[in-house]
Amino acid sequence: MISSEQLNDRFGVEGLRFGIGKGGLLKADIDTDACTGEIYLHGAHVTQFQPIGHQPVLWVSEKSLFTPGKAIRGGVPICFPWFGGLASDPTAPGHGWARLRQWDIDSVQVNPTAGVSVTMTTEIDAFRLLYEVTFGLALTMSLTVTLSDNSVVSASFEEALHTYLSVGNIGLVSISGLESAKYIDKVDKGSTKLAGEATIRFDGECDRVYLDTGTTCRLIDPEKNRMIEVAKSGSRNTVVWNPWIEKSSRMSDFGDDEWPKMVCIETANVGATAIELMPGQSHAMSTVISVFDGAQQL
Ligand code: BG6
Repeated sequence: MISSEQLNDRFGVEGLRFGIGKGGLLKADIDTDACTGEIYLHGAHVTQFQPIGHQPVLWVSEKSLFTPGKAIRGGVPICFPWFGGLASDPTAPGHGWARLRQWDIDSVQVNPTAGVSVTMTTEIDAFRLLYEVTFGLALTMSLTVTLSDNSVVSASFEEALHTYLSVGNIGLVSISGLESAKYIDKVDKGSTKLAGEATIRFDGECDRVYLDTGTTCRLIDPEKNRMIEVAKSGSRNTVVWNPWIEKSSRMSDFGDDEWPKMVCIETANVGATAIELMPGQSHAMSTVISVFDGAQQL
């Protein structure tokens, strides 16, 4: 297995160094004029992003595991090639294989304006995955999936960039951008509902898959006095999730008192908008996370 020294020899640049993280897992630390950040090779998992002058943007549980074969709780897990449970196999791991395995570093590049970019690859089933993460003033994550197996006629997959955002108090935040969209309400037997004109607010468990939406979401956080913007492309679903009290207490890798401090706004293609590719075809899905001072809607 490759070591952090070998990774630094091959890919280390000013502003990005490889090292050993929690659980002995390999990671890269980013420290530039624009931001600090952290990405594990395990799951190609971004665990930290903090633009200079701002508080940390991502939430990671104090109880998270950092163990081969297990998902990190928080940051940005990659869900692939399925989202949630796999209907055809109840024993298959939730959200697929991508977040459970170590990825390979393909390249590291420094762009004076955009920031430091890390590109990782892996192969899962018939697909080749390429994931480019740019740490700059914004955090840009782009997952490109290619059907690399020529022996199949076509193949489909679901995907999500399952972004856990850090908030001051879930009861005070609001999310705009999904007004008037249809959504599947997973806490109400998977029924399909139509969102009203109001922004999303939280007073209990929320687990919604918004349908046919490519819009930008804005998370207003009065306690942290900031707005986080989640822009995206190549995605027709947005998932909004907070487990609230009971569900989080059932998760051993989620502290009992941590649920008010996070919310997930996930860039996704799932269910009816799963992606189907023919051999040689690719699909790209991206999300850009930006932070602004003040808790006003722009
Ligand atoms: C969300 C799902 O995306 O992920 C929820 O909509 C799920 O239903 C949550 O509980 C966390 O999933 P996991 O597998 O990381 O516990």
